[in-house]
Amino acid sequence: MTDMLTPVLTANWADDRAWKLANYERRGGYQALRKALKMSADDVMTAVKESGLRGRGGAGFPTGMKWSFVPQNNPNPKYLVVNGDESEPGTCKDIPLMMASPHTLVEGVIISSYAIRAHHAFIYIRGEVLHVHRRMQQAVREAYSAGYLGKNILGTGYDLEVIVHAGAGAYICGEETALLDSLEGRRGQPRLRPPFPAVAGLYASPTVVNNVESIASVPSIIANGASWFASMGTEKSKGFGIYSLSGHVARPGQYEAPLGITMRQLLDLAGGMRNGHQLKFFTPGGSSTQILTAAHLDLPLDFDSVAAAGSLLGTRALQTFDETTSVVRTTLRWVEFYKHESCGKCTPCREGNWWLVQMLKKFEAGQAEEGDIEKLLDVASNIGGRSFCALADGAVACVQSAVKEFRSEFEQGYHTPAWELFPYEKSALFATNEGGRA
Ligand SMILES: Cc1cc2nc3c(=O)[nH]c(=O)nc-3n(C[C@H](O)[C@H](O)[C@H](O)COP(=O)(O)O)c2cc1C
Ligand code: SF4
Repeated sequence: MTDMLTPVLTANWADDRAWKLANYERRGGYQALRKALKMSADDVMTAVKESGLRGRGGAGFPTGMKWSFVPQNNPNPKYLVVNGDESEPGTCKDIPLMMASPHTLVEGVIISSYAIRAHHAFIYIRGEVLHVHRRMQQAVREAYSAGYLGKNILGTGYDLEVIVHAGAGAYICGEETALLDSLEGRRGQPRLRPPFPAVAGLYASPTVVNNVESIASVPSIIANGASWFASMGTEKSKGFGIYSLSGHVARPGQYEAPLGITMRQLLDLAGGMRNGHQLKFFTPGGSSTQILTAAHLDLPLDFDSVAAAGSLLGTRALQTFDETTSVVRTTLRWVEFYKHESCGKCTPCREGNWWLVQMLKKFEAGQAEEGDIEKLLDVASNIGGRSFCALADGAVACVQSAVKEFRSEFEQGYHTPAWELFPYEKSALFATNEGGRA
């Protein structure tokens, strides 16, 4: 089974002190940068375009195409901003990547900045993960000392300054325009688009915002060639990606594999579900993607196949739940998160998520009434697609898909509490003093 894995980004994670510059260089680190700086900026951009790399932050937008939207005739400075906010429930790939191998990201930042002709780059990290912030700062310091950053990088005449910035811990600051507001020192709230960041982003200047994993994939593309990358994955979802398995699996963790691997194959790699239990449902890409079930075990986990099945590949955050789990309770927990993280800018999301939580609490307590499922779906349909940003669509995805797949469990919420149907202690992985309500 392990021959299905394609460790590239994760290849050095188990090395002794993999995060140190000398250890990264020992494995060929910064050779891709040397190669890129001998190429023209346009050729680097073309290589990334031809590789077929699609953004790893959720939406899957082609990375090279995004770079080509930066208007080079704009006299303002160009900026690269790396999105390391990673706050989506279930998503846990960028933080381990930055902890284990921060130089993969730094090398990717330099090559990508060179391609878009930026001389300033920012790495925006989720505020709570202080240890990651420190590790990235240390890696950037090492890169400056080695001549990979600063003025006249490796004697090529190319200059780049990199700033590692810590957010203040808000999920909405992962949305790229809210992130830019936050980086400018404002309260993080999404901006109206157009203009898109590539045209008017940070300080109203052309800005590329890319996910950590997207940028970290760039050195391997330059080192091995676009066709090497494109030879993996599927026709429209090229290359490899980190799949994060969490929940009721025997061996949760990061599995780097070609796009298009199936849940069944990933579960085999992860030792299956925990002993004696079966898969009930899972998220393909974090809590803002529609849940899938055991009927989707053989679905290729690539952008188009998952979309055709009515969900989204998102961040490949495979939260897995076995038959001991209440779908109603899980949905409530997710919506509580979105209610808390709604930035409050628009009414459907700010008010609607509050109402969804009140209603789901009734279902959980077995106190919902006939017609409440329709009311729940009605409120959800007045949030998704009617709000300012995609947080709202993500918030209702779990509600709508949970009712679609497990309507009878919601009907049980008309008379029986979820904690009687699905006792906390059976699904809890860790003991808590609140009877499983972690
Ligand atoms: C509410 C919300 C939160 C988001 N959080 C993140 C995040 O933590 N990291 C990320 O890379 N993208 C996040 N995104 C997506 C970004 O807006 C953006 O699409 C992404 O950073 C682009 O990078 P990519 O093209 O490399 O995928 C979020 C989007 C929304 C709507
Ligand atoms: S949809 Fe929600 S998070 Fe997005 S702008 Fe509106 S209130 Fe803020």
